[in-house]
Amino acid sequence: PYRHDIKIQIFDLLGVHPVQQKEAASMDLIKAIVKMRSTKEAQEIEELERASVIGYKMHTTAMRITKPGLTEKFVAGQVDGTANSYGAMVSFPTIFSQHGEIMHGSPSMAELESGRLVLCDCGGETINNYCSDHTRTFPVNGKFTQRQLEIYSIVEACHDYALDVAKPGVKYMDVHFAVCRLMTERLKELGLMKGDTDEAVAAGAHAMFLPHGLGHMMGMDVHDMENFDQINVGFDEETRPRLDQFGTNCLRMGRRLEEGFVVTDEPGIYFIPALIDDWKASGHCAEFLNFDKIETYKDFGGIRIEDDILITKDGCRFLGEHRIPYHPKDVEEFMAQNK
Ligand code: GLY
Ligand code: MN
Ligand code: MN
Repeated sequence: PYRHDIKIQIFDLLGVHPVQQKEAASMDLIKAIVKMRSTKEAQEIEELERASVIGYKMHTTAMRITKPGLTEKFVAGQVDGTANSYGAMVSFPTIFSQHGEIMHGSPSMAELESGRLVLCDCGGETINNYCSDHTRTFPVNGKFTQRQLEIYSIVEACHDYALDVAKPGVKYMDVHFAVCRLMTERLKELGLMKGDTDEAVAAGAHAMFLPHGLGHMMGMDVHDMENFDQINVGFDEETRPRLDQFGTNCLRMGRRLEEGFVVTDEPGIYFIPALIDDWKASGHCAEFLNFDKIETYKDFGGIRIEDDILITKDGCRFLGEHRIPYHPKDVEEFMAQNK
C-alpha cells in the first residue's frame, strides 16, 4: 500500500490506519499473492501482448513525429493520446526527455534540438490493467552522431546480451551483473573506465553510468506488485539485495527466473553531472573511473533501451507483435521513411 487510494481502501475494509498498514500486513498473504502473480497464465500473456502492441504504436508515434522545434510535451501528448485512442491508458506517466540522464524525467516545454538524443520511456495499459514498458532513445534529427553511436552500441549489446541468457533457472541478479561487466569492458575500450573489470563491478564503479537494475517484474502493474515491497517480489532466501552499495541497492529483481515470468530488460548508460561532480570530489571509485574523460560527456544525456520479455520453457521471447526499431540503422531508416 503505497498509493493513497489503496491506503484509504484498506482502511475502509479493515479499519487499519494507514500508518499501521505496513506492520499489519500478512507476510503469508504477500507471499501467496506474489507466487500467484509472478507466473503469468495464458490469458494474462495475451493481455500483456495487447499492451505491448499499444506500446509499439505509442513509440512509433514518437519516432515518426519527433523533429527539431517541437516541444517535449507536444510529442509526449501525442504518445499518450495514441494509447487513449486505442481504448487504453498509459501504464505510467510518459517519460519523453532530452535529459535521458534524469530518471523518470517528465517532458518539459523545452524545444527538441537537432543533434541531441531524446529518451522515450512509455507503455500502454489495457482496460484489464495489464501493462507494457518500453524505452527507446533516438536522435531528434533522425541521425546518430558517431559519439552517440559509441555509447548507444554498448547499451544495445547489453540489451541483447540479457535476451541471450535469460531462461528458467538463471538468477536475474547474475544477468544484471554480467551486463554490468560487459558494460564496464566496453566503457574501458572507450577510455571512460579502467582497471580490473570484476573488481570495478564488485566496487560498484559501473553505477556511475548504470545506477539502476536491469529490470523488474511486469504484469498488472508496471513495476509489478511493488506495493508488496520489492524485496518480497524480486528476491527470496537465496537472493538478497545488497543495500549498502549505490546502484546495487536499487535492484528490483534478482531471483531465479521461471517459465511464465515477465520481466523488463532495460540497461542504460547515463552521464549525470551531479554524480560525476560528487564522485570526482570524493574520489569514489577513482581507480576505475577516468574522471577527466567522463567530464567531457556531461552534456551527453542518457540512453536506455527497454523491452518486456516472457520467460519460456527454455529461454525467453519478446512480448508484442513487432519490435520497436532499436538497432541504429533501423531507427534511422524508420525515422527517414515515416516523416
Ligand atoms: N518506466 C519505469 C521503468 O522503466 O522501470
Ligand atoms: Mn520503462
Ligand atoms: Mn521498466
